Amino acid sequence: MSGLLAGKRLLVTGVITDASIAFSVAKLAQENGAQVVLTGYGRLSLVERIARRLPEPAPVIELDVANAEHLAGLADKVREHVDGLDGVVHSIGFAPQSCLGGGFLDAPWEDVATALHVSTYSYKSLAMAALPLMQPGGAVVGLTFDATKAWPVYDWMGVAKAGLESASRYLAMHLGKQGIRSNLVAAGPLRTIAAKSIPGFEQFEDAWAERAPLGWSLTDQEPAARACLALMSDWFPATTGEIVHVDGGYHAIGA
Ligand SMILES: NC(=O)c1ccc[n+]([C@@H]2O[C@H](COP(=O)([O-])OP(=O)(O)OC[C@H]3O[C@@H](n4cnc5c(N)ncnc54)[C@H](O)[C@@H]3O)[C@@H](O)[C@H]2O)c1
Repeated sequence: MSGLLAGKRLLVTGVITDASIAFSVAKLAQENGAQVVLTGYGRLSLVERIARRLPEPAPVIELDVANAEHLAGLADKVREHVDGLDGVVHSIGFAPQSCLGGGFLDAPWEDVATALHVSTYSYKSLAMAALPLMQPGGAVVGLTFDATKAWPVYDWMGVAKAGLESASRYLAMHLGKQGIRSNLVAAGPLRTIAAKSIPGFEQFEDAWAERAPLGWSLTDQEPAARACLALMSDWFPATTGEIVHVDGGYHAIGA
């Protein structure tokens, strides 16, 4: 077996369509020698259908990352397919509509709580659920959208991402003694189901077209996926608590 991730066993969450960032991660990982187990949320038959489009059909385990029973049973279910995990990909985000598109001042706590549970706290929950299968050298990788700024329509999802960025640093701190890394990829805007659920998402698209020094494709998930692979590979052995921007350079440029 050859490739950047030769022999590595990965758990990849977050595939819902073949435009999902997680789908690109799973595809590239298989092409680079990894064995992939997927988790799916909600419409499992749809996720299974998409999984069959991968170079190698991948097993799909049901996981609602806010469901304590699913989390408690995850390691045993993963063990039915692989004997351990070298990498875990958290590619999950959700916020009720009230939390997005300018609703920051009016969104009720119950909705904000859901956004934080699924998009922020779940990063720690997923890592802990997978931990019994992990060894030193293992890596957890998640996806953020640069949370150092307030964005016009991102609202509570932006707060959730700021929390995620912090949670990744704390996870790096707490799992470091076990030799497990935690890093995030800050991707630019990509046309996925999650993105389409944000009213006014086109504002990001226009801003990136104008400002990203390298240019930016809204439909090419591969650059973000490549960074996820690199962070799970043996080529970032001393990097943890880091955020790698894969945004065409947008974050580095002033208005
Ligand atoms: N698309 C973008 O512009 C962009 C940019 C930066 C970061 N991100 C982040 O990338 C990640 C993946 O999103 P995507 O853009 O590929 O969209 P996507 O819609 O393809 O993926 C989001 C996934 O989250 C899953 N999910 C939602 N609630 C869940 C729950 N309770 N339990 C388990 N899974 C659940 C969905 O099933 C879906 O597979 C998210 O964290 C998102 O915030 C996206």
